[in-house]
Amino acid sequence: MKILVTGGAGFIGGNFIHYMVNKYPEDEIVNLDLLTYAGNLETLKPVEDKPNYRFVRGDIADRPFIFSLFEKEKFDVVINFAAESHVDRSIENPDIFVKTNVLGTTTLLDAANAFDVKRFHQVSTDEVYGDLPLDRPDLFFTEETPLHTSSPYSSSKASADLFVMAYHRTYGTPVTLSRCSNNYGPYQFPEKLIPLMISRALADEKLPVYGEGLNVRDWLHVYDHCVAIDLIVREGKVGEVYNIGGHNERTNLEVVRTILRALDKPESLIEHVTDRKGHDRRYAIDPTKLETELGWKPKYNFDTGIPGTIEWYLNNREWWENIISGEYRNYFDRMYGGRLK
Ligand code: NAD
Ligand code: DAU
Repeated sequence: MKILVTGGAGFIGGNFIHYMVNKYPEDEIVNLDLLTYAGNLETLKPVEDKPNYRFVRGDIADRPFIFSLFEKEKFDVVINFAAESHVDRSIENPDIFVKTNVLGTTTLLDAANAFDVKRFHQVSTDEVYGDLPLDRPDLFFTEETPLHTSSPYSSSKASADLFVMAYHRTYGTPVTLSRCSNNYGPYQFPEKLIPLMISRALADEKLPVYGEGLNVRDWLHVYDHCVAIDLIVREGKVGEVYNIGGHNERTNLEVVRTILRALDKPESLIEHVTDRKGHDRRYAIDPTKLETELGWKPKYNFDTGIPGTIEWYLNNREWWENIISGEYRNYFDRMYGGRLK
């Protein structure tokens, strides 16, 4: 099989390529990535010399480029990870989220139709369901939960989801769609909560916790997300949506305290800062469909997955230190400058 993975120089796409290239030496994996601020070819170093892996630089929203790539390569499967993925950046500048996440997805869908792709898998997020109240721990997102978005990021992802399902109904495009909860693990860009807190705590810098820190996220190790996507692409039913999550809810304060304990750093590093605008309160996935229909079970829970993740950031300082010394520093100053003392 020839598989196009878009956004493979990012966090989840990169982990997915590691997993696939090693698991399926007979498959050909092409990684298409624009290398935005979030894309990093260092992430692909461990696989870049494998005979079944290739990198192509390009924009999923560049129609002539995408059509000529699809014509030349004749992909069997397309797995679309490429996206602008950070909620805070979407609040600053929604436009690029519409371009990449919506127009990029429809461009790929059109090319998939034109060149007879056998499966188009869209990697989506639990954020399309909006949020749940903090005082109703009995409520979870199922695949039937209505889309109800809060941020420009989640609105752009929900919009892409609607196009994916509409293409299936209108043109018969053989799609599957997955909606996963918050991921953590190796190679995550240090603007996201867990790597941000690890890298700053190691430097004894203040840890900016939004509001009271009581918002809840449902954490899944990126490895388990990769296994689920592979399973859905190979065994999932065309036209279906699958939720991915492992029932690992934690408040943000619990996550930050876990990291501080593991690194033997004081809680006095925590600084409560102005809340994120429109901040979703709680995400919680019901993964019953994926478990019962496809037999998926996560390998890690938060307590077993987080120590290895922290260790990875300790052992791979060069990977993230290169990032935080570059353009990212400007972003951090812009985003947090007025919020941290
Ligand atoms: P990321 O920001 O780490 O990586 C995104 C990648 O896409 C980068 O390599 C970037 O260069 C590339 N990209 C951006 N715009 C592009 C364009 N126009 N053309 C080609 N490539 C482009 O994101 P991530 O955290 O790895 O998320 C991957 C996907 O998974 C996204 O679709 C995201 O919505 C979804 N998701 C993420 C999480 C999470 O917790 N991180 C959870 C559920 C779903
Ligand atoms: O749920 C899946 C989503 O998870 C993905 O679709 C997104 O791509 C991914 O970025 C993530 O979104 P979140 O907004 O939940 O992740 P983030 O790491 O930005 O924030 C996690 C929580 O931590 C959130 O409640 C905001 C809070 N936070 C975040 C940062 C960066 C802080 O308190 N301080 C911070 O500095």
